[in-house]
Amino acid sequence: MSSWLVTEKRSWPEWLALQVLKVGPIPKHLALIMDGNRRYAKLHEQETFHGHIAGFKTLTYVLAWCRDLGITEVTSYALSIENFKRSKEEVEGLLSLASNKFEEVLNEGENLAKHGVCIRIIGNLDLLPTYLRAQTAEVVLMTRNNTKCFLNLALAYTSRDEITAAVRECAIAISEGRLQETDITPRLLEQCLYTAQSCHPDLVIRTSGETRLSDFLLWQSQFSCLFFTKVLWPELSIWHVLGAVFHYQRHHHTVVAARKQAKLLYDRYELEADQACSLDDPECGCDGTKARKIRVERFIADLVERREKTYHALSTQLKEIKKQQQESCEQEQK
Ligand code: FPP
Ligand code: MG
Repeated sequence: MSSWLVTEKRSWPEWLALQVLKVGPIPKHLALIMDGNRRYAKLHEQETFHGHIAGFKTLTYVLAWCRDLGITEVTSYALSIENFKRSKEEVEGLLSLASNKFEEVLNEGENLAKHGVCIRIIGNLDLLPTYLRAQTAEVVLMTRNNTKCFLNLALAYTSRDEITAAVRECAIAISEGRLQETDITPRLLEQCLYTAQSCHPDLVIRTSGETRLSDFLLWQSQFSCLFFTKVLWPELSIWHVLGAVFHYQRHHHTVVAARKQAKLLYDRYELEADQACSLDDPECGCDGTKARKIRVERFIADLVERREKTYHALSTQLKEIKKQQQESCEQEQK
């Protein structure tokens, strides 16, 4: 059985390069568009599926390089909603690869806890098959208290879908009187995204020579440093990642300055939203600003609670499915 946590001894040139880079600013959060798996498979005269398997292996190596560099959060684009348009055979292959890998995660709980690895799944879980959906919930619940490093896997994800879902949440809350129109600010919308628990990616790497974001973290990558490389994803080496980090270091000051400016702008949006509230809110017996704060906090707490309930329901579902599978296995053996 393979592990999500690979340990490799660094060669001395790699070790030296790591130490040199670590003198400069290191991205906290790295986002990955893992492109080129099928071309890799074709190049090596293999079935497409083998390209994706090789791609997964590369992901585990990248995670180890990130640990060595001190990058504490990685978000990777494992399956986009667009990918569902591929052949039935390829989609089923990708879904079963994900399911097998999640089963491995579920068997590796102690090891992941030892290394403090928290795995989150971002995307529209409703689009996944029942069993895989239930597995993702179990993985999230099992690793949620690990706090050293974070892996966000985007499954059935696109930014448009994510932002649409966030806007829908706000629209429903307005129609039910839980929010007011003027409560909607970029900060509030951001808290409705699947990535609400994460900081924005500092660096985005896309492999295979394509220079597009393909609907990945469009909101969150507002000030990310983008690094495109021609190498196919399964052939990515530690040197490409170190090169990308060096690219980030050269542009770090502009990223910091842009984020500072943006913070001022978003503070102003909050202020305007506060000013738009009436001075007194008889309903809560306090001033309008405080009333808005309470409304927004309740709205977010409600959203978090609903997502939490979904995870627990899915986890229960997984246990039931596994129990049924076990029972039918025993029946067959009799
Ligand atoms: C893009 O290459 C890659 C994908 C659509 C799938 C990426 C998935 C993995 C690397 C494994 C994911 C891991 C889990 C746990 C599910 P491509 O297929 O577009 O290749 P091409 O650009 O050469 O056509
Ligand atoms: Mg591609």
